Amino acid sequence: MALITVAKQQNVIEEVRDQLKYLFLHRKGNDVHAAIQDVINALYSKDEMKPLIKQKSKQGDVWKFLLTLPPGTGFSEFKKKTPLFADATGGSVVIEKRGKIVSMEVMAEELKKNYPFSLFDPEKYDDMYLPLPLGMSAKGLIVRDLTEYPHFFTGGETNFGKSNELHVFANSILLYRPDTFMIIIDPKSTEFAYLEGRALVVDEMKDVGQLLEKLNEELDKRKKMLKAANCVKIQKYLAKGYEMEFIVLIVDEWADLPEDVQDDLWRLLRMGRFIGIHVIAATQRPSSKTFEKFGDMKAMFYGRLSFVVADVINSRMIIDSDEAAYLPAIKGRAIYKCGLETIEMQTLFLDPEDAVKLYKGKASCKVVNPIAINEPRKMLPPR
Ligand SMILES: Nc1ncnc2c1ncn2[C@@H]1O[C@H](COP(=O)(O)OP(=O)(O)OP(=O)(O)O)[C@@H](O)[C@H]1O
Ligand SMILES: [Mg+2]
Repeated sequence: MALITVAKQQNVIEEVRDQLKYLFLHRKGNDVHAAIQDVINALYSKDEMKPLIKQKSKQGDVWKFLLTLPPGTGFSEFKKKTPLFADATGGSVVIEKRGKIVSMEVMAEELKKNYPFSLFDPEKYDDMYLPLPLGMSAKGLIVRDLTEYPHFFTGGETNFGKSNELHVFANSILLYRPDTFMIIIDPKSTEFAYLEGRALVVDEMKDVGQLLEKLNEELDKRKKMLKAANCVKIQKYLAKGYEMEFIVLIVDEWADLPEDVQDDLWRLLRMGRFIGIHVIAATQRPSSKTFEKFGDMKAMFYGRLSFVVADVINSRMIIDSDEAAYLPAIKGRAIYKCGLETIEMQTLFLDPEDAVKLYKGKASCKVVNPIAINEPRKMLPPR
C-alpha cells in the first residue's frame, strides 16, 4: 500500500515537472519572480490555497523571496515542490521556514558540476571546532561544525561522490584542525592510504573490533577526566583551559563493518558527543540490515547527505524524505538534510593527489602505534 502511494506521488511530480521544465528558459527577460508565480499557479488551482509572495530582493546572483502560506497549505508539502521551482527558474532553490514566513532563495544560475576544494576558506570559520565544507548551494558554500551534529552520515548510489566527500571532510579537518586525532576505516585499502601517518588508517576488518574497544576505553577515561573537572561536555572542559583532542572516526563503507562490533559502536555514537568523539559514515543504502542490531542507531546521525539514489525509497532511507530521488544524475550533486534544513548542493571536489600537496610546509601528526590510540603522538617537523 505504502509503495503504491510513493509511486503515485513520484508520478505526479514527474508529470508537473515535465510541464514546467524549461519554462523559465523560454520566458523573455528571464523573470525569476514570474517563473515562481507560474509554478504556484500551476500547483494551487484555488486562490485561497496559494502561497503569497510578499517581498522580493536580489543580492549578487541570489534572489530572495518571502512568502506566506495560507491556512491549509502546509510548509512541508510546499517545500517538497522545490525541484519544480528549480526547473522553472533554471537555477537552484532553497526553501526555509522562519517563524510564520517562508523564505525562498534562488540562485539564478544552475549549480555547476565542479567546485574546487580551494573555495573553502578556513579562516572564516575560526569559531567552529571542526568546520566541514559540505558543498556549494544557492546560499553559497555551506559550512557546518561537525561537533554540532554530533555524527554525520552520507549515502547514495555507487560512483556519485560519497568517498570524495569523505576526502573533503578528512582533509579539511587534518589541514585546519591538526590537533584532531583521526581514524579512517577504509575497507577498499586504497582510497585513504595517502593519509597514513596523518590519520590512523585501518584497512583490515579484523582490526576493527580491537579499535572500537580501545575507543570505548578512551571514552571511559575521558568521562572520568570530565567528571573530575566538573564539566558535562568537552566544550566546557576546553573552555576551562584543559586540553583534550577531538577524535573523528571516518567509516567509508558502513555496511562492511563486522557484525560483532555493534555494541561498541552504539556506545560510541550515544556517548561520543559529550567527550569529543564524532563519527562520519558512508554507505550506499542505510537499510535496517546495515544498522542491524539497533533500529535507532541511524537517528544518532543528525547531519545527512544523500547523493543520487535510484528512487524515493532509497532517498527516505538516507534523509527520511524524497528529495534525493529527484536529483539530476550529476556526480557530487546531493541533498543535505539536518532537522528542518534541506539544501541541494554540489559537493566540493578534491583529488587525493592534489590533497597531499596541501600539506607542504605543515606540521603533521605521526601515529606511533596503530590501534593503541592512547599513546601520545609525535609531531613531525614542518616539511
Ligand atoms: N563533488 C564532485 N565534483 C565533481 N566530480 C565528482 C564529485 N564527487 C565525485 N566526483 C566524481 O565521481 C567519481 C566517483 O566518486 P566517489 O568515488 O566519491 O563515489 P562513491 O559514491 O564513493 O562510489 P562507491 O560507492 O563506488 O564507493 C570520482 O572519481 C569523481 O570523478
Ligand atoms: Mg566510495
